[in-house]
Amino acid sequence: MHRSHTCGELRIENVGQEVNLAGWVQRTRDMGGMTFVDLRDRYGITQLSFSIDENEKLCSKARKLGREFVVKATGKVVERESKNPKLETGDVEILVTSLKVFSPSEVPPFTIEDETDGGEELRMRYRYLDLRRKPLLKNLKLRHQLALETRKFLDQNEFMEIETPYLIKSTPEGARDFVVPSRMHGGEFYALPQSPQTFKQLLMIGGYDRYFQIVRCFRDEDLRADRQPEFTQIDCEMAFVEQEDVLQTFEGLMKHFFKEIKGVDLPEFPRMTYADAMARFGSDKPDTRFGMEFVELNDTVQKKGFKVFDDAELVVGVCAEGAAGWSRKQLDALTDFVRRPQVGAQGLIYCKHNEDGTFKSSVDKFFDQNQLNSWASKFDSKPGDLMLVLAGPTNKVRKQLNELRLYVGGELGLRNPDEYSPLWVVDFPLFEQDEETGDFHAMHHPFTSPKADQMGFLESSPGSVNANAYDMVINGVELGGGSIRIHDEELQKQMFRILGFSDEEAKAQFGFLMGAFKYGAPPHGGIAFGFDRIAALFGGTDSIRDYIAFPKNNAGRDLMIDSPSEISDEQLKELHLQVKSES
Ligand code: AMO
Repeated sequence: MHRSHTCGELRIENVGQEVNLAGWVQRTRDMGGMTFVDLRDRYGITQLSFSIDENEKLCSKARKLGREFVVKATGKVVERESKNPKLETGDVEILVTSLKVFSPSEVPPFTIEDETDGGEELRMRYRYLDLRRKPLLKNLKLRHQLALETRKFLDQNEFMEIETPYLIKSTPEGARDFVVPSRMHGGEFYALPQSPQTFKQLLMIGGYDRYFQIVRCFRDEDLRADRQPEFTQIDCEMAFVEQEDVLQTFEGLMKHFFKEIKGVDLPEFPRMTYADAMARFGSDKPDTRFGMEFVELNDTVQKKGFKVFDDAELVVGVCAEGAAGWSRKQLDALTDFVRRPQVGAQGLIYCKHNEDGTFKSSVDKFFDQNQLNSWASKFDSKPGDLMLVLAGPTNKVRKQLNELRLYVGGELGLRNPDEYSPLWVVDFPLFEQDEETGDFHAMHHPFTSPKADQMGFLESSPGSVNANAYDMVINGVELGGGSIRIHDEELQKQMFRILGFSDEEAKAQFGFLMGAFKYGAPPHGGIAFGFDRIAALFGGTDSIRDYIAFPKNNAGRDLMIDSPSEISDEQLKELHLQVKSES
């Protein structure tokens, strides 16, 4: 045995014991007659001590240890003269009698401590070194704990974990597929699953009425802090259920996480329709930790001679409590914010509700104090508040104001990461229409069932039909989404037709599913959670990368193994792909 204890284990009760420890050298301190080495493993840090008087040779060996050397130390646990209350093992140290170097280390490219000097790219290139740091270790432990709690809860609720294949055929979830060329079938390709959607539906038809899987999904899409090209879902499906059953079950799962991991009892999750979410927050994933709900002003501000308002389809604003004191510079920064191409507004109108009850707006030329007072009544603003208003086409302006609301909410400290505000967003539209082509796309995916009472409008007015689809949102993050599925062959065919598939195309791509519907398909529905996103939410940060052991960067590259990369001509040939030198 290389070690009798870990580096996080020894306490005052162990004094007098002979122990073996193994780990990485965090740092060496040479104090003249004594040399101290902090030895680290994933469990903690223990101080090793070497005395010149006791063993000069060993002491000089210790002095030569560099950062990140891997060593084994044998010695006696003794009580420390100057204790370190910051370390769990800080009451003791090891008086080392023998030291073995397992392997030396080059000087690491960044310091491996809680606060590091390494930039993100560098740390990704040397991810195995970054993984030694406590913050990452903590994140991966949290992820592990979430996986355990997932299995515990779902197992207790009769769900079976079943694996589905990775080499499949396209499953449409709205992104592009990653494809894998087949060597055995020249010119043919597998697709990696964007989700196990069709397989979990087939499992329902197979009789496994409660399924789950902690499963990798692959999507070739633009990356952001909360998106990776490969990510993990807690994917679930249930048969013989209606929407309410699914919502109750998975609200239960989320409450279980909060109880077990944070010790927090969450109250019942409120429900909000998609239409409400868009009108009140301009987003289908509203951050409901704070108010600042949208206030529509068309009736109050139009036809007063201000063209920007008069020409707009929607004039809408938010009230930032206590922000009337913001400086000119701060207001200019807000205008710059909304004008950024990512937000895309032309400009921002503000109105300060001064402490003395008067108003100061950026449109004083068009609106007198009386009129601004009527804005204040609409916003229910108080002296000291700041009204912020945007105008434009409804959908666009709502999205812009959503960005502004989140930004200002952040500036006002209203987005506390230790506060949790969950909700269900329900009644999503079944389709969304491409503004340019007029084509309809499935808002969730093509297997989602329309609301039973709206079937009649599928052909005449598809855009008005709502779906049995729902998202779970916490603090403005879409953690999961799902739907009740179509389980009728004819309805599924009709869906594909509306989505622009010919019967032949639908059959070629999804014939297997529609074929299965012929053999007794139970009513079913489910949900999938973004597992990495849940971990990030519980860890209190925005980037899911910090919760993935080996993530990709924003350009979809793994900087450590340097992928994607070219393959040899020989491999290309074998896969029936064009050889570069011949092209
Ligand atoms: P959906 O596409 O909404 O639904 O995905 C479910 C959840 O997965 C997470 N997610 C992602 N996380 C990280 N990186 C990504 N690129 C990424 N894309 C999605 C989100 C999202 O809510 N088959 C359906 C589910 C169902 O209908 O049951 C599906 O995949 O948190």
